[in-house]
Amino acid sequence: GVTLVTVPTAVNGNPVTLRVDPRATLLDTLRERLDLKGTKKGCDRGQCGACTVHIDGRRVLSCLTLAATVSGQQVTTIEGLADGDRLHPMQQAFVDHDGLQCGFCTPGQIMSAVAMVENEGPARSDNEIREGMSGNICRCSAYPRIVDAIRDAQRVMR
Ligand code: FES
Ligand code: FES
Repeated sequence: GVTLVTVPTAVNGNPVTLRVDPRATLLDTLRERLDLKGTKKGCDRGQCGACTVHIDGRRVLSCLTLAATVSGQQVTTIEGLADGDRLHPMQQAFVDHDGLQCGFCTPGQIMSAVAMVENEGPARSDNEIREGMSGNICRCSAYPRIVDAIRDAQRVMR
């Protein structure tokens, strides 16, 4: 059998000690073990951005991240973004601007956008937003409204 590894981490602010297969992805661990299904599995190979989460505030593709590597780090998923009943400004902006159609890509779009604005500084143009968000694919082509939402949210977040 496989030797499991012990991974002390925190997910959405809650300390948790995981025992995982060293080959398990963070994506599968979040969805299957912790029942956090907000993080979506699109391509499972680093090409769509649907699985984006934060590790210590930086955006990562959880399908390409091994759960064993998040030891001692803070993982944040879409479920942990709101402040109680109060949506994060980025979530609110997606609602206000109808920045979604089927919604499948939305958690990844929002997690990616929040980390982009917080770590890389607010985008100075719509082109910069598009460039910064180029790893997040939307099959419904809701891009114009996604850009509107991010432009608006980053004003509030500053
Ligand atoms: Fe991770 Fe597509 S599911 S990038
Ligand atoms: Fe459907 Fe983006 S809203 S994939």
